[in-house]
Amino acid sequence: MAIVGMDINKAVDILTKGELVAIPTETVYGLAGNALDPDAVLKIFEVKKRPSFDPLIVHCSNVNQVNNYVSEMPEVAFKMAAAFWPGPLTLVLPKKSVIPDIVTSGLPTVGIRIPDHPLTSRLLQALDFPLAAPSANPFGYVSPTTAHHVEDQLGHSIKYILDGGACDIGIESTIIGFDGGKAIVYRLGGKPLEMIEEIAGKVNISRHTGLPATPGMLRSHYAPGKKMYLGKWEYFQNMLDKSETGLICFRNPVEDYPQDLQVVLSRSGNMKEAAKKLFAALRYFDSLDVRNIVAELLPEEGLGRAINDRLRRAAAEK
Ligand code: TXA
Ligand code: MG
Repeated sequence: MAIVGMDINKAVDILTKGELVAIPTETVYGLAGNALDPDAVLKIFEVKKRPSFDPLIVHCSNVNQVNNYVSEMPEVAFKMAAAFWPGPLTLVLPKKSVIPDIVTSGLPTVGIRIPDHPLTSRLLQALDFPLAAPSANPFGYVSPTTAHHVEDQLGHSIKYILDGGACDIGIESTIIGFDGGKAIVYRLGGKPLEMIEEIAGKVNISRHTGLPATPGMLRSHYAPGKKMYLGKWEYFQNMLDKSETGLICFRNPVEDYPQDLQVVLSRSGNMKEAAKKLFAALRYFDSLDVRNIVAELLPEEGLGRAINDRLRRAAAEK
């Protein structure tokens, strides 16, 4: 079983030997290995049972390091990097050949981000290589936002989990790619669209095309084991049994509904608080003996867009 702790030296030691460590970030926990070592990266795919066509994000400690791994950065990418790194933003950019093909699933581009978490920033500074890290969950399942979530699912197959507490943002990074210098959103995430557009102007959101160009965009992803329904409880109350249904509400609890069968994401209607609690709520209902989860959608703005995106994917037919 994995040891859970806060020992950066131990993490450095394990990673330097080509083994894996789960690391905290401000978005979700990552399953990290040396991004420059194809054998370490292969272990990531094996532990996650991740298909080899799904490329990994490379985590760097600073912009100088990023320059070692990307060959080109459009003007607008520079501006976003300056404004939002460290932070919940991944930029997909043409890669240099030092990044092994296994990291990018053979694509000529690499997803790069500088995470914003004190422990992981110190870890990255102490290493002389960047870290490839997908979310530390089995492929297709809900991302982990605590060390305990990681331990639950991957504890038997990794040595060490660096415990940085509950993730501050709680949903994955926003992923941006570029086409002829123009920004495109590949995945909605922790950096709200409105903030991206302040820098990049109006951007398009890439829709899933059936090709796994960005599996985070697969229609069914981030999925709990229960049947999900989207909307208010009142729409479903005649068709679902209360005792078999967990509710995820945005601000207001449903009156006369069992307390332990509902999670209110934010009583004050704060989307940041809601995002932070979302994945733990899905896991909570997965752990209960219920059949269904009914989740209310949030207003389509700010982080609400990314939250709704995750809920829709969680609800999509597998
Ligand atoms: O917040 C996050 O982004 C977290 C933390 C750990 O950094 N990581 C994360 O990784 O969510 P993952 O692997 O679960 O999702 C990364 C997504 C995948 O859907 C992958 O397809 C996409 O990023 N991606 C990575 N490199 C890409 C590339 N070169 N082109 C297009 N998509 C890419
Ligand atoms: Mg993931």
